[in-house]
Amino acid sequence: MSAGDGEQGADQGRALWHGRFEGGPAAELMAYTESLSFDRRLWPDDIAGSVAHVHGLAHSQIISEVERDSVLAALQTVHDEMSRGAFQFLAGDEDIHTAIERRVTELAGPAGAKLHTGRSRNDQSATDVRLWMKRELVAVAVRIVDLQDVLLQRAVEAGPVYLPGYTHLQRAQPVLLAHHLLAHGWALARDVERILDALDRVDVSPLGAGALAGSSLPLDPDYTADRLGFAARFENSLDAVGSRDHVAEALFALAVVGINLSRIGEEFVLWTSEEFGFAKLDDGYATGSSMLPQKKNPDIAELARGKAGRLIGDLTGFLATMKGLPLSYNRDYQEDKEPLFDAVDQISLALGAMRGMIATVSWVPNRMQAAADSETGSATDLAEWLVQRGTPFRDAHAVVGALVRRHLAGEGSLAALVSADPALGPDAAALVAPGVAVQRRTTAGGAGPAAVAVQLERFRHKVAQLRAAVTADLR
Ligand code: ARG
Repeated sequence: MSAGDGEQGADQGRALWHGRFEGGPAAELMAYTESLSFDRRLWPDDIAGSVAHVHGLAHSQIISEVERDSVLAALQTVHDEMSRGAFQFLAGDEDIHTAIERRVTELAGPAGAKLHTGRSRNDQSATDVRLWMKRELVAVAVRIVDLQDVLLQRAVEAGPVYLPGYTHLQRAQPVLLAHHLLAHGWALARDVERILDALDRVDVSPLGAGALAGSSLPLDPDYTADRLGFAARFENSLDAVGSRDHVAEALFALAVVGINLSRIGEEFVLWTSEEFGFAKLDDGYATGSSMLPQKKNPDIAELARGKAGRLIGDLTGFLATMKGLPLSYNRDYQEDKEPLFDAVDQISLALGAMRGMIATVSWVPNRMQAAADSETGSATDLAEWLVQRGTPFRDAHAVVGALVRRHLAGEGSLAALVSADPALGPDAAALVAPGVAVQRRTTAGGAGPAAVAVQLERFRHKVAQLRAAVTADLR
C-alpha cells in the first residue's frame, strides 16, 4: 500500500525526509510512530532549545543576524500561540519538534528552513527532555519538602503523645508520635537528596551532538549549553544522543518516593481502621461508600499504596527498553517520555494529596496510648533495669520473659508479678505503669521526649537546608 497517494499523505504535506523518499508515510506508520500525543508538553523546552540553537547558528555565522531575528520572531509567535492554546497542529505533525519547525517555516519562510541546520531531532529531543526534567524534578522536590514541612508541624503539635512502635507489625516498644512521623520525614529527605543528585547528571546539554557525530559546521556546543543554562555540554556525541541512564535514574528516584508514600499510605489505612482507631481523616480527604452509609474510606492512602506499583512499572519498563540497545540513538528511546511524564505526574498528585491528608488528619491519642500501655511494652525496660543492677542481659531477658509468660497465662498483672519477684520488686514494677516506657528511650536518635526534642530541631534544620537547596536549584 502506498500511503503517499492516500488521504493521510495528502493532508500531511511533506515528511521531514521527503527528499529521499518517493512515497509519503503510511497512515499506520504515522499512527504507530507519532509521539506528538505525549511529547507536545515539551513545547516550552523545544522552543527554548531552538532559540539557543538559532543564537548559536548566528554566533557561528552560519546564518545572518537578519535570519536569526526572523526565526526568533517566529519562535516567539509559536510561543504565544502555544500559550494561548491557539497553535494549530496538523495531521502530519509527527512530534512536537516537527510541529514547531513546520510552523516556524510557515512564519519565517526561507529563514525558517534554516532552523534545523546542524541539528537532528536526536540531539533536539534529548535536549528538550533534559530541560523538562530540570524544571519538573525540582518542582517534585519542592513538593516533597512541602510534605516534610507538614510532617514537621504535625510532629511538633504531637507533643507528648505516644503510640506503640511496631516490628513485624507486633507491638514492640512505645514511641512518641512525633518520632514516628519524623521517621517518614527523614526518608523523604533522602528522596529529595536523591533527586537533586540525579539532577547533576541530567544537567548536561546534548545540543550540538547532531544525529550522532557532531557537525561539519562550526557549531559551538559550549555556547548553546551555556545559553540554555546547562552546567556542561556533552563530552561525547554518541553518548549525548545514545544514553538515557539519567532518565532511568530519575525514574528510580521517583519510584522510591512512590514506595515511601505507599508505606505512609499503608499506615494510614491501618491507623484509620476501626481496629486501630489511631486517626480520623478529615472529610475533605476521605471518601464515602455508595452503599454503606457508615463508611469513611482512606482512598488517598490506598492509592498512594497502589500507584507505587505503577511507578515501579515506569522504571522497570524503561530499563527493559534500554537494555541491549546499540549506540547511538534508537527510536526505542522515544519510549522514555511516557513513563517519565507518568511518574512525575503521579508523584506530584500523590504528594499534594498526601500532604493535605496528613495536614488535616486528627489523631486519637487515647487509642494510641492505650495500645502502647499494654504492660508487656515495658518488658525490655524491666530487663534493662536488671542489667543496670548487674544481671547479664541474657539472664535478665529470661527472667522477664518468664514473668510475661505467666502474665499472659492469667497469673496476674505484670506489675503484680514484677512486684512479687525477688530479683525485681516494687521499684521495677513502677516501670510498667502507663506512659513510663516511652520516657526511658533516652539515647540519641531514640523515641523518647528528650531525644525527640533534639531530633525535631535537627529535622527542622534539614528541611530548611533542603528548602534552600531546591529553591537555589531552580535550574
Ligand atoms: N520523537 C522522536 C523521539 O522522541 C524524535 C527523534 C526522532 N529521530 C529520528 N531519528 N527518527 O525520540
